Amino acid sequence: MKKVTLAILSLALVCGAQTIHITGTVKSAAGVALQNAVVVLQSPTQDLPMLRTLSDATGAFALDSSAGGTGILAQGRSISPFGALAWSQPMAGEVTITVDNLQGQRMSQRAVALDAGNHHITNAQGLLADLSAGVYVIQVKQQGRALARSVLVRSEGSRGEARIENLSAAPALALAKSVGGFAVEIRLAGYVPYVQSLTSTIINLGTITLTRDPIETKIDSIMNLLTLAEKIGQMTQADIINISTSSVNTYKLGSILSGGDEAIPDYDSYQNVATTMTHPIPILYGVDAVHGNNKVSGAVVFPHNIGLGATRDTNLVRRIGEVTAKEVLASGVDWTYAPCIAVVRDERWGRTYESFGETPELAVQLGASMIRGLQGNRFDAPWRVVATAKHFLADGGTKYGTSSAGWAGSYGLLDQGNAVITDSVVRAIHLPGYQAAVDANVLSVMASYSSINGVKMHGNKTWLTDVLKTELGFEGFVISDYNAIIQINSTYSTAVKTAINAGVDVAMEAGGTGYYNHADFISTLTTLVNNGSVTQARIDDAVRRILRVKYRVGRFDSPLENQSYDAEFGGAEHRAIAREAVRKSVVVLKNDASTLPLAKNGKKIAVFGSHSNNAGLQCGGWTLSWQGLAGTVSGATTILQGLQSAVGTSTVTSVSQYSLPSDADEFVVVVGDGPYAEFLGDSADVTMPDGAQSAVTAAIATGKPVILVLVSGRPLIIPQTILDGTKAIVATWWPGTEGAGVADILFGDYAPTGKLPITWPKTMAQVTLHVGDAGYADTNAPLYPYGYGLTW
Ligand code: BGC
Ligand code: BGC
Repeated sequence: MKKVTLAILSLALVCGAQTIHITGTVKSAAGVALQNAVVVLQSPTQDLPMLRTLSDATGAFALDSSAGGTGILAQGRSISPFGALAWSQPMAGEVTITVDNLQGQRMSQRAVALDAGNHHITNAQGLLADLSAGVYVIQVKQQGRALARSVLVRSEGSRGEARIENLSAAPALALAKSVGGFAVEIRLAGYVPYVQSLTSTIINLGTITLTRDPIETKIDSIMNLLTLAEKIGQMTQADIINISTSSVNTYKLGSILSGGDEAIPDYDSYQNVATTMTHPIPILYGVDAVHGNNKVSGAVVFPHNIGLGATRDTNLVRRIGEVTAKEVLASGVDWTYAPCIAVVRDERWGRTYESFGETPELAVQLGASMIRGLQGNRFDAPWRVVATAKHFLADGGTKYGTSSAGWAGSYGLLDQGNAVITDSVVRAIHLPGYQAAVDANVLSVMASYSSINGVKMHGNKTWLTDVLKTELGFEGFVISDYNAIIQINSTYSTAVKTAINAGVDVAMEAGGTGYYNHADFISTLTTLVNNGSVTQARIDDAVRRILRVKYRVGRFDSPLENQSYDAEFGGAEHRAIAREAVRKSVVVLKNDASTLPLAKNGKKIAVFGSHSNNAGLQCGGWTLSWQGLAGTVSGATTILQGLQSAVGTSTVTSVSQYSLPSDADEFVVVVGDGPYAEFLGDSADVTMPDGAQSAVTAAIATGKPVILVLVSGRPLIIPQTILDGTKAIVATWWPGTEGAGVADILFGDYAPTGKLPITWPKTMAQVTLHVGDAGYADTNAPLYPYGYGLTW
């Protein structure tokens, strides 16, 4: 009894930001000290561990609060029954309020923007409205860390009279403890992770024995058989257009890709070669399924990541990951180069839409959710595919004008450029997403074409090996980006040596005119190993990682195409989730005189604009082709079709900009940008395109109310005349195939909940302005701040 009370008191100390001193020694079953085991202090209610460290050469570690840590151990004060939530330290900027049940499921979540000095929120009630009787953990988080936490006990039958327990009160902590409470997790590549619940925050855990993962024994026996050629083959990824089925055996290939413009072949015919080689090892096949399985006709295409950032909905993103994995499997293959967890810091970047938004918090929460959807919690979903967190590291932080990517006539400005940045900014902004991805057991990470302070990421051993693999404890493999290795050095041999020694495990050597391909890579790396420039140990480490991923994703057990999800491909259930994503991603920026929602009858609503009835433009880049396309996308509903099916074609008519009807009551103008991808989307000027402006101007000239629907990969600068002349403005990002989700909002079937994942600048001078910057709230306020979004 006494012991229990003590445990509760100690936990109170954890929450109260006091002393933590947890020591121990990590050993193998044979009693050998294990160095570099990752030791983290977990709380079931935080996205990132509260403290972390590594074991030393003797296996010893100390998790010590006085040594500082990455966690913020603050304490919530109270949550009133009426929904007011208060905390002890002032906070500014956007916070996320989450409500989880005791099984750790997210019940609801909301983003709230705070002014400086804020100590409380008075309107948390909406989050609690639909909760049934039970016990819930409510938290206020910033950058993925809990700043305030409380436990809510909602009693049966009385919505408004929930009894709230203050966090510091013992009963609340007892509840937290009863679901696992705080724990220390210890993991090291090749071993089964070890989790120990805490009974005290000052404790010596003694000797902790890590058990070897049984998969490693299987890997040992394969490694014993493989020749150098077979090992290097595993490290090689060829482009499908450069090989035939027999190449798999000729080169002992480890994996294949279909590039942005290449179709997926009959995978089994390649796999059959791999599994009948002298030493059979299944191959992996990668595609860019970055917003659904977008390369395949008939697939459900989801909003791009920037739109998912606007939803702030981790549960939704997890379901999207699951659907995407199933549609990837249904197309035959088993690996997606997603999610992109870039934190975009300059929206002139052509990949802005591939980012969840401008803060690390979005990358942490939504990136990890997507990975869990694609792979399961610990690569355990029956539908799992290999996920890839990309592009490591700081791809969204490059400096304008530092890129030389592109072809004559279209040079990149930011994409593949150089991030001129301090380590502490890299760690604060760009690294947390990878920490969360590694904690979510992501199986692969793609290196970025870009550089940090002039050092190409593909040759950056500090970040790739010392930080990603050692400090974060990443157990999977690092893949290079498409033909990226040669960018390290114009001498291919130097480039390959630098990349492999820096920590690249798989080389995506697509080849093509003027580029080195899989065969060049194999011969070059073979020479480098034979002359001692790359050690056998480095090769063995890379191949172990590759085999580990192949085991974990289940390819050794069933290498042939998984047909279990074929019937669901492009189906109604999947489309319903995409439509939900669209309506949750729509951000209402302006709504004068309650113009929205539109009345469903009695008015004539005239719709026009380049993006109103064009599924291709609505899907954006990386749809059916690398750059995307204008026109038909099989299975898609356009925004116009969605509006019409909500109310019928007598209420909503499609009209021409050049003969606008005089009897229309309202105009809905659907315009935007794109499609584009990568450096071809870099843009010196992100103002609304001229054609888009003239369409809106034509509608304004009629004197009728104008609703502007923007369909774009990034916030577009809206000229003052358009701001003044329109009654309502909504941002739909690039919503994908389910245009009806836009109608769900415009006609008021659902109240808008989307919040800006990125600052909406007033002028070009503000394209690098971010939440938290000086003057953001007053002297240099953007048009619409991060977190902004109207509702009704
Ligand atoms: C892109 C990656 C992509 C790869 C394969 C590269 O150009 O940077 O994001 O995964 O191509 O298509
Ligand atoms: C490929 C893409 C790749 C890009 C890289 C394109 O030709 O189709 O997959 O990302 O080149 O520049």
